[in-house]
Amino acid sequence: MKEREPGETGRLRIAPSILSADFGSLADAVRGVDVETDWLHVDVMDGHFVPNVSVGPPVVKSLRRYSNKFFDCHLMMSEPGRYLEAFRDAGADGCTVHVEVGDTAALIEQARSLGLRVGLAANPDTHFSAVSPYLSSIDLLLLMTVFPGFGGQSFIAEVMPKVEEARRVIDEEGLNVDIEVDGGIDTTTIPVAVKAGANVFVAGNAIFAKPDPEEAARQLRESALARTS
Ligand code: DX5
Ligand code: ZN
Repeated sequence: MKEREPGETGRLRIAPSILSADFGSLADAVRGVDVETDWLHVDVMDGHFVPNVSVGPPVVKSLRRYSNKFFDCHLMMSEPGRYLEAFRDAGADGCTVHVEVGDTAALIEQARSLGLRVGLAANPDTHFSAVSPYLSSIDLLLLMTVFPGFGGQSFIAEVMPKVEEARRVIDEEGLNVDIEVDGGIDTTTIPVAVKAGANVFVAGNAIFAKPDPEEAARQLRESALARTS
């Protein structure tokens, strides 16, 4: 894959979430999973949309020096529009905003005009009908499999019918949209999400809380592929 390219839409992607890495040695963590992963998932929390605070554009800018991966920035922010340009300038490749914050059409348009790959996220209890009107104007649909805010939570399997519905509509309409799942993804839940139709898999604890993150990422991919073959 060329540098910082997302790759073909719909293909299987493993996206490690740096939220679960050691923030004191992020560069090592990122380089350590380079071979077995596809994208880098950056969880941005503003302490308002979610009850936690994480990282912002300066960290994206610093990590850019250590990785040529596609940076998939998940903006858990009440006012993402105020920061999209800063993330783009820092080196973000894709930015995902939550549909729950409103102003969705304008945010999508803003991200698009900045040259970002555009994602739209929905919390576990947000209905598919909230995101379906935007499918033709986005590149990625992020269906949260935990309530956002913290790593290490349990996968909410009840979200799978929504993933199935999204996959059906995206395929029926021939749309170029990735379906990403985020939260509680591990070797036992990844086949469930693959079966439902997701193709991008964010994993924090299942990679960075393991003694050998690169091997853990390889096993995740193997578990996902086992379901597809
Ligand atoms: C949740 C974040 C996730 C989270 C995933 O708010 O968006 O990306 O860090 O972590 P795990 O894989 O540990 O559930
Ligand atoms: Zn995330």
